[in-house]
Amino acid sequence: MSASNREVVLGVGAGIAAYKSCELLRRLQDRGYTVTVVPTPSSLNFVGSATWEALSGRPVSTEVWDNVHEVSHISLAQKADFFVIAPATADLIARIAMGRADDLLTNLVLASEAPLLIVPAMHPAMWLDPATIANVQTLRSRGYVVMEPETGRLTGRDSGQGRFPETSSIIEKFDVITGNVRDLVGKRVLISGGGTREAIDPVRFIGNRSSGKQAVALASAALLRGADVHLVAANMSTEELGGVTVTEVESAQEMHQALLHEFPLCDVLVMCAAVADAKPTQRFTEKIKKTFLTSINLEPNPDIVAELSKTKQGQIMIGFAAETSHHTEAARSKLVAKGLDAIYVNDVSDGAIFGKDTTQGMILSRTGADIALKEVSKDALAHLLLDYAARQLG
Ligand code: CTP
Repeated sequence: MSASNREVVLGVGAGIAAYKSCELLRRLQDRGYTVTVVPTPSSLNFVGSATWEALSGRPVSTEVWDNVHEVSHISLAQKADFFVIAPATADLIARIAMGRADDLLTNLVLASEAPLLIVPAMHPAMWLDPATIANVQTLRSRGYVVMEPETGRLTGRDSGQGRFPETSSIIEKFDVITGNVRDLVGKRVLISGGGTREAIDPVRFIGNRSSGKQAVALASAALLRGADVHLVAANMSTEELGGVTVTEVESAQEMHQALLHEFPLCDVLVMCAAVADAKPTQRFTEKIKKTFLTSINLEPNPDIVAELSKTKQGQIMIGFAAETSHHTEAARSKLVAKGLDAIYVNDVSDGAIFGKDTTQGMILSRTGADIALKEVSKDALAHLLLDYAARQLG
């Protein structure tokens, strides 16, 4: 199993519905999964490798003979947490039922022990053929989940049972398999994100390099899991976040005020924002002329999360730590000093992580084992932190 527990292999069979799997791939990515697409060779007649590579951001192989040195049928099988085969044709279902291994996808199915969801799509006559019925039964008896195709109009004039199901039904089924149910319904998740700015004068400020991407990932993930989500956003883009209540702030003081108001109402606080530790003692109302700009006197800002934790009444509090050295020890002392339940620490030496879509670091918690993460998406990290919060909330 992968470190992130969110590695999916999307197998694509040679059906016209292959193009609908492009949408499925996107929806899986929205849920924080990293997807490797493994098409059958003949499915490339419908959707080519370039499309899958562009959408997944990963190389695409169809045969075990590609990248032989990586032994990809074994390495990918071991890395995968879940398999989705969509669309599965009558032929692909037959080959899996027989235990054939004549392309990369069928090799992977044999070599992996990960849960497998099969989404058939074919002409109704093929679906209802006794051979297919027997093959599907065999697959189900092995513990694979085989969805029922939908009934309706097919690509040609015919209609009947054989249509590729709606993406939302596939995702629903996938959620059941992965246990990724809507476990935060009725819960209020408060997230802070972005980086605060401390004004020096009307044009200058002290800021930091936080992009807010992790907070966007957290807000989207919490929303998907059914939570009421409130984001206190400091100088970050929140355009993608329909359905999330957003309070825009600029400085640490404004963030503090907003969080003081919202914290008593929440069940989970994820303090993802990079808060300026200090601010200029004086904010000039006029732009300072450069000849006078020789030094800036600073005074400390409050440690917002440490202040909030003193008033906590059962809220689960998760913090972030950005460190350039002695990461684990530094984060563990912050975990205790700030009264947090868990903390995610990442290595930001050389400006790594800021503005990127991936992260690497470690989740430390008061309860449970630490989790080391190597190059996972910010969506995947968001779900892992929410997994933790959901477990703690019971
Ligand atoms: N934090 C906060 N208020 C501050 C500073 C930080 O609430 N004034 C929160 C951050 O949002 C984060 C956690 O505390 O969740 C750790 O932030 P970090 O910047 O790593 O720690 P600092 O306490 O600022 O310590 P230092 O800068 O000395 O490493």
